[in-house]
Parts: sequence; C-alpha cells; structure tokens
Amino acid sequence: QPRFFTGIQASGALTLGNYLGLIRNILEIQEEYEVIIMICDLHSLTIPKPNFNYREIGHEIASLLYACGLKEENCKIFIQSEIKEHVELAYLLSPHITVSALSNMIQYKEKKREQESGNLALLTYPVLMAADIFLYDADLVIVGQDQTQHLELTTNIAQKFNNFYGQKLLKIPQFTIPHLGAKIMDLKNPQKKMSKSENDFLALLDNPQVVAKKIKEAETDSENRIYYDPTKKAGISNLLTIYALLSKQEIKEAEKELQNLNYHQFKLKLIDLLNENLGKIHKKYIDYQPRIKEILKKNTEYLKILATQKLNLIKKEIKFN
Ligand code: TYM
Repeated sequence: QPRFFTGIQASGALTLGNYLGLIRNILEIQEEYEVIIMICDLHSLTIPKPNFNYREIGHEIASLLYACGLKEENCKIFIQSEIKEHVELAYLLSPHITVSALSNMIQYKEKKREQESGNLALLTYPVLMAADIFLYDADLVIVGQDQTQHLELTTNIAQKFNNFYGQKLLKIPQFTIPHLGAKIMDLKNPQKKMSKSENDFLALLDNPQVVAKKIKEAETDSENRIYYDPTKKAGISNLLTIYALLSKQEIKEAEKELQNLNYHQFKLKLIDLLNENLGKIHKKYIDYQPRIKEILKKNTEYLKILATQKLNLIKKEIKFN
C-alpha cells in the first residue's frame, strides 16, 4: 500500500482551517493509503511558550484526529519527539542546504518579525520538515497552501542529497495542495489565514454557543448579497467556502442555494451546519480520550522500526556504519 504522510504542529487546539484544509482531504484517501500523521512538538518549539503542556495538547490533537473519522487500523498518529531519528536525519541533510536559502523562506521572515529576531530552530525548521517526510519514504503529502515553499525546499534537498551520494536514497513524494479550502481565512480578519497562533480562530472543540458567537461576529461587508469574490468580499467568500465544504457542494451550488438569504440568515444557517458537524466530532472525541496514550504507543513502536531502518540505510551510504 502506498504511504501518505503529513504533520500538524502541537502549538494549540486544532482549528477549522486544519479540518477543512487538511483533515477532510485525508479522510478521502485513507482507504487507498497507509496514513501517517505526525504531531510536531519539535516544530512547535520554534516559538517557545512558557508553561506549555506539549504532551497534553498532543494527546488532544491525536484524539481529535481520530474523532474526525480517521480510522485507527490504518492511520498511525504519533508524536515527533518520540522518534529521535527525525532530529538525526535533519542534521545529516543540513550540509546540503544554504543558510541564505533558509533565511529567504517566507514563513521564517514572517515569524521572525513576530519574535523580533529569528532563532536557530525557526531558521532550520524546513530541514526538519524535509527529514520528517524522507524518514518514511512517503508517496503522497498533502498540506495547505502556506506550506508550498517548504515543499519546494524539500524537493531541492532531496535532489542535492541524492546527487551527492549518487543514489536515489531520498524519495521525492507527490505533493498535493487541495484546491478548495487550501486556505481558510481568519473570521474577524479575513485577509489573514486562520491560525492557531491568532486569537479568534474557530477551534474544533468550541462549544455551540462559542461557535454561534464567533460566526455572528465574523467580518462581512455592507452589500448584503451572497456571492464569491475573495478580493472584494473576503469575509463572505470565506464563510461561503466553509459552508460549501461542510455541505459538500461546489461554491457555485452553494451560491445558488443561498442567493435569497441576507447575511444574518446565512450566518444562522452556517452556525447550525457547523454545530451539527462539530457535535459529531465532540461525541467521538470523548471515546478516544481515555485510550489515546495506548494507541499512540503502539503506533510509535511500529513507526520507530521504519524510521530506524531508513536512517541506517542513509548512514551506511555516508559510511557512518
Ligand atoms: P501547521 O500545524 O501550521 O498546520 C497543519 C496543516 O493544516 C494546514 N492549515 C490550513 N489549511 C487551510 N487553511 C488554514 N487556515 C490552515 N491552517 C493550517 C497547513 O497547511 C498544514 O498542512 N510545517 C507544518 C507541519 C509539518 C509538516 C511536516 C507537514 C511538519 N513536518 C511534514 C507535512 C510534512 C505546519 O506548520 O503545519
């Protein structure tokens, strides 16, 4: 069976952006692929948070992912720092990428600004991300639009590394960015992507009252007509995208369905749809919580074997063993 790989940071609660941009797409391919999902606590350290419980959040994210409908038998979720081979491979790759290529990464520049100055982990982050992917010989990787540049760099590193050792040691997977929902925007500030590092994202664990409040307060415009135009009508277009994805329609169909509603009526309809979807996830989440540690342990044992084998192969080529 071909293998799918992706990662999600352990920096906070899962958002509606993660769900619509990523998780929903994994649900669709899980019958065809062996699915590996990594909860990246090492990546989350790039913006250090005092008193942050990475393990607790990691367990919450893992339970939520299964609650979204990923199947336990075929979907191996694990926590990055549990498999130390990631860090080791990242180091072995790092001679094949220049500091200037890394300091030109958009995300590095953006996040550096937030922090006033960039730290070393933030700079080398894309190298660790490449290592994540190579360690499991992934055939397919799906990510949201914000990760495109990191994937280009990953390809680049593989080509240089493979050239240097004269071998196809690192596998370049097929990278897919979903066309619709690849970028769910912030509700209050729809010029920016919805992100768990901002304050007003919609969390998958938000209760119905909170969902209602956040959607009612979401930015719209004064036209009171529902159609898709992300430049002129960023807020409504974002809500329309969310609506279309949750009701499994194309944007055009959703526009047609909603054409006679005003913004208030549309928002009430969206709130119902969201709460119906999230309600199902919340129910399953409670079932997974008490079992999650045990499931992760089993997954880690299995993946550790794959990671060790791959790393040994690479080290052999470097003449390290
Ligand atoms: P992270 O944790 O920021 O986000 C996890 C995934 O969700 C997507 N995403 C979104 N999609 C649509 N709209 C949004 N508002 C939105 N916000 C987030 C992201 O694109 C991502 O696919 N560097 C990665 C994690 C990572 C990884 C990897 C991914 C580490 N190693 C190896 C793939 C392969 C990140 O920070 O994702």
